[in-house]
Amino acid sequence: MSENQNNVEELIPSVDKSTDEVAWDLYRKAIRFGTWDPAKIDLSQDKKDFETLDEDLKGYLIHFCTGFLDAEENVALKFCPWIMLGSSTEQQAFLSTQLLEEFKHTEFFMRYFKEVLGRERIPTVKNAVQEKLDERAKKMLAALELDEEEREEALVEGLTHYQGIIEGVQAMSGYDVFHAVFGSKGLFPGLAEGYARIKEDEGRHVGFGLRMLKLFARKPEHAKRIRALYDEYLPLILTRYDQPIIVDGREYPTPPEVRGRDRVTKLFERRLKDILGVSVSI
Ligand SMILES: [Fe+2]
Ligand SMILES: [Fe+2]
Repeated sequence: MSENQNNVEELIPSVDKSTDEVAWDLYRKAIRFGTWDPAKIDLSQDKKDFETLDEDLKGYLIHFCTGFLDAEENVALKFCPWIMLGSSTEQQAFLSTQLLEEFKHTEFFMRYFKEVLGRERIPTVKNAVQEKLDERAKKMLAALELDEEEREEALVEGLTHYQGIIEGVQAMSGYDVFHAVFGSKGLFPGLAEGYARIKEDEGRHVGFGLRMLKLFARKPEHAKRIRALYDEYLPLILTRYDQPIIVDGREYPTPPEVRGRDRVTKLFERRLKDILGVSVSI
């Protein structure tokens, strides 16, 4: 994985096609290519790498993987309302592939804890953006009973929160952190492969979400709504990398390659530019 693969020109499908055509193309792509099996990735070298890893990095990896497992599991468990608010068979068909894929990502990290880290995840890695997902899902479910305009508002906010921020900023910063700290040094080839497969799936998820937001942002009231939500969530996003790394009561140093705040801020600006089409300063 290189650090510049979050290139969004390739990520966002064409705005010339209809949303239903794009959704159907992505659905078909998921059927044909999204067939990797989390149970089949070879983790034997990862186990050896973990056994000989520096103690400080061991603590960091456990904390880092807990963050991913918590996040993948939470987005999988909460995703149904996003499918239900899809406004056609084509859109719901594509979104249903995303639901399965989030569970596959969860399965991969569950397996990683069991077979490589040899322990349970730690109880808390703070992620304030994820904590708000429950409330978001409830709002979206409630919107199913409302008129078309209110459903659209709920969908715009839901897509901003989930695809625009969690997947488009937080998860993508995480892939780059893994590469910088471990992958670029040839460590943990199984985890690197898992991230490569997850990234392919996420390309479809983020691509569809950002394209929807780009279209919605043509309406000034939606553009305002999207910008307001990004701004409201920025301090919450930053808490993910500002927290101390505590595992089993012991604090571990953050490796210098992480540069979480820097990565998150860059992707945050990038996503706003993708959606709103202008450079923004934060
Ligand atoms: Fe995922
Ligand atoms: Fe995803």
